[in-house]
Amino acid sequence: MGHIDFDPSRFEGRDGYFLLTALVVPRPIAWVSTVAADGSRNLAPHSYFNAISSNPLVVHFTSTGVKDSLRNVKATGEFVINIVSAPLAEVMNLTAANFPPDEDEFRWGNLEEAPSSTIAPPRVAAASAAFECTVNRIINIGNGHMVFGDVTHLVVDEDVMRDGRVAPDLLDPIGRLGGSWYTRAATDLFKMKRPTYEELRSKPGEGAG
Ligand SMILES: Cc1cc2nc3c(=O)[nH]c(=O)nc-3n(C[C@H](O)[C@H](O)[C@H](O)COP(=O)(O)O)c2cc1C
Repeated sequence: MGHIDFDPSRFEGRDGYFLLTALVVPRPIAWVSTVAADGSRNLAPHSYFNAISSNPLVVHFTSTGVKDSLRNVKATGEFVINIVSAPLAEVMNLTAANFPPDEDEFRWGNLEEAPSSTIAPPRVAAASAAFECTVNRIINIGNGHMVFGDVTHLVVDEDVMRDGRVAPDLLDPIGRLGGSWYTRAATDLFKMKRPTYEELRSKPGEGAG
């Protein structure tokens, strides 16, 4: 048994996609709500999603190819990233269906909207947290269209807070793995305190120090 070598330049079809999305895991899910230029609502999950800057707050999601969410973001400069907790997993997945642009995923999912405070796209009322964003910049690399958003407002349901912090078990977020696999990120929690260099130096024989 050994490691298998892959040369990305020899990948065919979706080989690269399958390996990348099975290995870069678990991915958080940005449930992106936007409005089109004509005002119609759109909602779609994007697991190429992450935090970029905490001061100021900047987040990012990537559209693989050109999709309705990306088109709307380009047209309006605004989007909401809703956080997906486990009870919302199925309806989040429903909103990933290949709906035509004029179909309203909020309606298909029987999802109530809540108005945003700073931008036009509404948030998903049932989501425990949401980032209201304006486009900082969009960068195209390969088939990825990376959308960076300045966070103009943030809402968090007080029911997921404990002692002034978001509690992972209360938020109960899901993550995406390869294929159709998902994980509940907070059902197998463990804690680790980050050591300091000084602590490591004072314990000769443990680790490289
Ligand atoms: C959990 C999950 C994560 C997804 N992540 C992405 C992603 O990061 N980028 C992307 O382009 N599509 C992603 N998709 C697929 C889109 O949600 C799907 O293509 C959707 O129809 C796009 O909707 P839109 O055309 O309204 O933007 C994901 C789907 C699911 C279920």
